[in-house]
Amino acid sequence: MAMLQRIERVLEASLVGAEAKGSPPKLGQAMRHAVFPGGARIRPQLCMAVALACGDDDPSLSESYGAALELMHCASLVHDDLPCFDDADLRRGQPSVHKAYGERLAVLAGDALIVLAFRTLVGCKPKHLERLPELTAMLDQSVGPPFGIVAGQAWECESHAVLAEYQRAKTGSLFTAATAGGAAAAGMDPFAWKTLGDCLGEAYQVADDIRDVVGDVSLLGKPAGQDQTHDRPSAATLLGLDGAVALFDRLMQQAIESIPACHGAAKLRGLVMQESQRLVPTEGPHKVERRSSLYS
Ligand code: FPP
Ligand code: MG
Repeated sequence: MAMLQRIERVLEASLVGAEAKGSPPKLGQAMRHAVFPGGARIRPQLCMAVALACGDDDPSLSESYGAALELMHCASLVHDDLPCFDDADLRRGQPSVHKAYGERLAVLAGDALIVLAFRTLVGCKPKHLERLPELTAMLDQSVGPPFGIVAGQAWECESHAVLAEYQRAKTGSLFTAATAGGAAAAGMDPFAWKTLGDCLGEAYQVADDIRDVVGDVSLLGKPAGQDQTHDRPSAATLLGLDGAVALFDRLMQQAIESIPACHGAAKLRGLVMQESQRLVPTEGPHKVERRSSLYS
């Protein structure tokens, strides 16, 4: 079965469990709204791609861990869109959860998705039970303080933040957890795969900053111009658009070069290049001009 199908199947099963008879129906509906239809599902796909490159000898573990990362990501977007943060009405081309279900249910849906993420991981039936504690710790570290996404978001509440630290925590931590965890789920050394996640996480946030400037609501499926509106640290503001695009290209190149030698390396390199084109294209209708291109 294809990676994406495996992830969607685990997500669906997790959601069904949370919608059981006796549970308040609107909570389950709000949780479902946050998870389906998905975005690019980049974090779980990255996790699965690394697991496959490493042999994927425990598929239940790798797909449950990947789905848990996606549930955390969805939870974080529900909270990020709330009026107390970005006050965004649109997410993935549809009303954000608080717009569709109200603020109280959006807070609760986010909370419940965090719990569901841990439940999805620890409730799976792995062949290698001994790998579960390390993966649980990775999931925990990618979300909680001091360096997880909650800490990253909390930097927005400080009067001063270092851009790299803020972005590493807010976005990079789930990417690093995806690559390192994908390897750990397959019984391989997670540290060998950390650089790939670090580079991709930073590149993804830089791309988000670029797209916030050059994109529009129809392309993004969410409001554009948010960094300026909320006066948030952004690579495009700090480095200018050309500087941010050059940084993105450099990070993607570093990501490709960091892929450890393994039988799935070529496929993984292809996936990273494809993702690079999707995020900040060098050609096509949404092409982003390069002054000094790695691709020329
Ligand atoms: C989107 O950023 C938001 C994040 C990457 C993380 C948000 C984290 C929290 C709200 C902390 C709470 C975490 C959990 C697990 C509930 P963005 O606003 O730059 O991007 P956007 O344009 O997609 O909104
Ligand atoms: Mg936002």
